[in-house]
Amino acid sequence: MCGIVGYVGSATASERPLEVAIEGLRRLEYRGYDSAGVALVGPGGSLEVAKKAGKLANLVEELDARPLAAATVAIGHTRWATHGGPTDANAHPHVSGKVAVIHNGIVENFHVLKDALLADGVEFRSETDTEVVAHLLARAYDATKDLTTAMQQVARTLHGTFTLLAVHADAPDTVVGARHDSPLVVGLGDGENFLGSDVAAFISHTRDALELGQDQVVTITPTAVEVTTFAGEAAEGRHYTVDWDAAAAEKGGFRSFMDKEIHDQPQAVADTLLGRTDTRGRLVLDEIRIDESVLRAVDKIVVIACGTAAYAGQVAKYAIEHWCRVPVEVELAHEFRYRDPVVDERTLVVAVSQSGETMDTLMAVRHAREQGAKVLAIVNTHGSTIPRESDAVLYTHAGPEIAVASTKAFLAQITAAYLLGLYLAQLRGNKYADEVTEILDELRAMPEKIQQVLDRAGRVREIARWMADTQSVLFLGRHVGYPVAMEGALKLKELAYIHAEGFAAGELKHGPIALIEPGQPVFVVVPSPRGRDSLHSKVVSNIQEIRARGARTIVIAEDGDEAVRPFADEVFYVPQTPTLLAPLLAVVPLQVFACELATAKGLDVDQPRNLAKSVTVE
Ligand code: M6R
Repeated sequence: MCGIVGYVGSATASERPLEVAIEGLRRLEYRGYDSAGVALVGPGGSLEVAKKAGKLANLVEELDARPLAAATVAIGHTRWATHGGPTDANAHPHVSGKVAVIHNGIVENFHVLKDALLADGVEFRSETDTEVVAHLLARAYDATKDLTTAMQQVARTLHGTFTLLAVHADAPDTVVGARHDSPLVVGLGDGENFLGSDVAAFISHTRDALELGQDQVVTITPTAVEVTTFAGEAAEGRHYTVDWDAAAAEKGGFRSFMDKEIHDQPQAVADTLLGRTDTRGRLVLDEIRIDESVLRAVDKIVVIACGTAAYAGQVAKYAIEHWCRVPVEVELAHEFRYRDPVVDERTLVVAVSQSGETMDTLMAVRHAREQGAKVLAIVNTHGSTIPRESDAVLYTHAGPEIAVASTKAFLAQITAAYLLGLYLAQLRGNKYADEVTEILDELRAMPEKIQQVLDRAGRVREIARWMADTQSVLFLGRHVGYPVAMEGALKLKELAYIHAEGFAAGELKHGPIALIEPGQPVFVVVPSPRGRDSLHSKVVSNIQEIRARGARTIVIAEDGDEAVRPFADEVFYVPQTPTLLAPLLAVVPLQVFACELATAKGLDVDQPRNLAKSVTVE
């Protein structure tokens, strides 16, 4: 949560630092959009700040009305409020004397620190935890006359999670950053350097990046990047090249990032499958650096994740259990972390995360490793924390996902989890090579089929627009269709602010059917009639049961499934595919539906209220 950008460039003051900061904030706004602000430092000791509650556009308006002086250094922040509401005063940067600070995270001991500062007569201008850091840094700088040393000192006193960036009026060529359990990456330029919560902050300027480790301080000047520990010892970052460019983080003619990302899905699945087999067609997952003997001995898999990523895990459970004959539990990361889960050296914990920064998932990863389990991360974002803290990583190649609602990452996560399942089945001898190849071929056919679903989505959009005033929508599914139903409901909640719930269709008669009244819209995800017949016919019976009670049934079924027609008010057909792979198709109309309905309501589908893309606090 919160987006952070930092820039140092030429020694001659110019507009560039502000331009880089604003552009970076525009690309990071998906991380939080309650307020935004910048601080600029110029030669001669000028420190100027502008900040405004609301979206970045408000800050830009303010800067147009009251321009800041040209500068050599800039920091910028887009906020997702934790301490103190979204007001101008609580917006970052926070200033104390000649220091300006921006912060992502929560300083858990800020009350204690604030009380001590108040007792010393310090006056506070905001309700934030961050302002404490500004005052502490100003004092530490006065004592040390060095911003890096001051940052190291202050970082050692803070508890909680933080990425901090600071500038000082007397250091017009320096930005200092620190990170503890919160993301920060360095962008390496030519005569200029950058800092960002993620590479999107500087992707249009450089693809050369430096990943920082935990509890490190980084000092950037136009020509140098120095990394140290909080104790002041020299440290090193890990250099890498970002494998996507600025164009991938633009809307590309679509009206929203979400719409674009829905349409990116065939590519996201294709790219995630790319390069995973050797010349003999055997599945090789190079990034899995866990000893094969350990993977063979695994007797339980636990998937930990949150939100959409957890639903991807639930889909994967059906496939991995079926292919590998290993029990798979799927648990919300925050629930896993704070109970006493039974995991040991024979447990493989799979952490699924688009951002790689979700704090709940990161905490669960650490907990699992402490218990002796091996952790394998399925993550989309290179340079993020979860892969670095895991034993192995399997990257999804969905490209940058900017819209807060996850779409293409979901499909890529399912695809990667399937690859993992097939790899384990191959390794453990549960499947012969030709069986694995057959399923891989089916997977390789999915991008084309997803494209067909998108090409047919016109009717879904029409229905969504008609339903713009709907108050409540239910989603039913069975087997792999159950997590798809829950994902459909989540999309509608978060984008359209409509009450929506996903149920296991078999659960209907155990309670939820009481919700059905005349006109109640219910989406039903129907399994293939070519699969286990009992499954299909049971869901068709469910449709009849709710229809008999007046529900308006909107059915997702496979091409050729005529059995659903008599009981469906609407049918969206998707191409035929094996049951286990069907979620990759069935979820697409539900994503399109939520996106279109929210758009019809005039809502901002990329930045829904109260949410942020990356949940970096617990
Ligand atoms: O970055 P992660 O995949 O770890 O994020 C997990 C959830 O916060 C995320 O999927 C969230 O539920 C999305 N907004 C859903 O669209």
